[in-house]
Amino acid sequence: MEMIRGYPDYMRESIEKVEKTRPQRLKATFKAMTLEEREQILNEYHPDYKPEAKRDLKIGPSKGQRLPHEVADLLEAHPLIDPDDVDLSRVDYDCDILIIGGGGAGTVAALWAHYSGVPVDRMLMTTKLRHGDSNSMMAQGGIQAADRPEDSPPRHYLDAIGGGHFTNKPELVKALTMDAPAIIQWHEELGVMYDKDDKGVMMELSGGGTSRKRMHSARDYTGMEIMRAIRDEARNIEVPVLEFCPAVELLKDDQGRVAGAVLFNMETDQYYVVRAKAVIMATGGFGRLHIQGFATTNHYGATADGLVMAYHVGANLIDLDSVQYHPTGAAYPEQIVGLLVTEKVRGLGAQPVNKNGELFVFPLEPRDVESANFIRECYGRDNGIITPTGMKGVWLDSPMIDDLKGEGTIRKNLAAMVRMFERFGIDMTKDPILVFPTLHYQNGGVEINDKAETSVPGLFAGGEVEGGVHGKNRLMGNSLLDYNVFGRRAGINAAEYVKKVTPGKLSLDHARKYEEALKNAGVETDRKAPMLLPDYRGNHVLSRALDIF
Ligand code: FUM
Repeated sequence: MEMIRGYPDYMRESIEKVEKTRPQRLKATFKAMTLEEREQILNEYHPDYKPEAKRDLKIGPSKGQRLPHEVADLLEAHPLIDPDDVDLSRVDYDCDILIIGGGGAGTVAALWAHYSGVPVDRMLMTTKLRHGDSNSMMAQGGIQAADRPEDSPPRHYLDAIGGGHFTNKPELVKALTMDAPAIIQWHEELGVMYDKDDKGVMMELSGGGTSRKRMHSARDYTGMEIMRAIRDEARNIEVPVLEFCPAVELLKDDQGRVAGAVLFNMETDQYYVVRAKAVIMATGGFGRLHIQGFATTNHYGATADGLVMAYHVGANLIDLDSVQYHPTGAAYPEQIVGLLVTEKVRGLGAQPVNKNGELFVFPLEPRDVESANFIRECYGRDNGIITPTGMKGVWLDSPMIDDLKGEGTIRKNLAAMVRMFERFGIDMTKDPILVFPTLHYQNGGVEINDKAETSVPGLFAGGEVEGGVHGKNRLMGNSLLDYNVFGRRAGINAAEYVKKVTPGKLSLDHARKYEEALKNAGVETDRKAPMLLPDYRGNHVLSRALDIF
């Protein structure tokens, strides 16, 4: 069968309307929505605001918290391993710090633990896939840091806390924004190649909900460029890494502190017992749970494993009722549905336009508001473009970037994106691209303080697995920043903590108690967690048509 390339004729008719309105739109001035307008559209169209999509958690320290069903299902599942099957008298690895997760947060944590005095032979990083396989690697648009004279960390703080609907933990936003300039400086020392102008000055762009240009990027593969540098550094100092060995349960000692983990070697089916004075959880988020049937930008490994393990040992959760749907996931062609179309496309000037060629929203509203507008345009006003498989989307008028910023800007700044669409016969420098919101980020997670400590002694967390930083909505560029800031803080503070600790007798009693709690709460399920890998075989396979609307 021949692969369809480019757009079918009926889509071309709509593109002609987009082209017709373009000259006028190029001169348009924008008005952002008022707070009242934002509130109204969120209530009516944002998936997070549908009460039937959530339920109260039945067990554990965050019992009663309202969560998406898909997340509650995992937290109300049986522990994956039977504690009686694991021989805790045989310790396979003994270390000071165990880092679970080999993405950005885990790598940064390992580096800073080492810079803070922990020898590499006293640490161990374990990861489910390969070192670097993660959302951190796939990030495109950039990292925020207020490092220009017309900007400041307090301004960045106000943007982040406003974007989060004032629900963020202030101490965490303060840490995030105050540490940011030093993080960029550290990256430069490591050799991260950020975009600069002819004079060597950092080029910075706007993101949704930001009041200043503070987005530092490396073309549209910023995540990969940062990961290249930090992973090289980890390899240079020889951080020991176990690949294809996910943790499946944390261990506690007889004093109630987290003191290691049980790992599962996916290649040999062996279990390993790791004793550690401290554990840093850096397993990323829950995108692959496909909440409410949404496609996702996320890495294959984003299955909420760390959230589940931390909850089994009694860690508090925060803001997990809030899911980030990135406004611009690819909606056509079918092969790339849900993949990220970076916010940088709008940052460079592209406008969202409906099937009639009308600009229907300010292009850089905070993400939740922008997404709600896209959903209304498609499903509330019937102004979306229907794809051959029944999805709907709106146009992102990418060619106008070259009109605004000069010929060649798109190819230079959005090289990866141009390539992604070109494979399917779509030239985004000439034609608009079709987009629809896609599940992008876990806004909440395991609650931490500004030392990246969780509520359980011995357990630290950094990156998407932790919560409190972004409140109910994260702004663009604050996730790469988050994993650097809190990965670093986790490494530094864990290094300090291990100086004072000698682990006691190892135990999996918390897993037995969890079973008991499930029984007492009347939970009946054969589900087990952590899930480790997503399962695309069942009836819950992603519905392309999103019939929930
Ligand atoms: O649109 C983007 O490039 C995504 C950035 C982010 O989530 O921070």
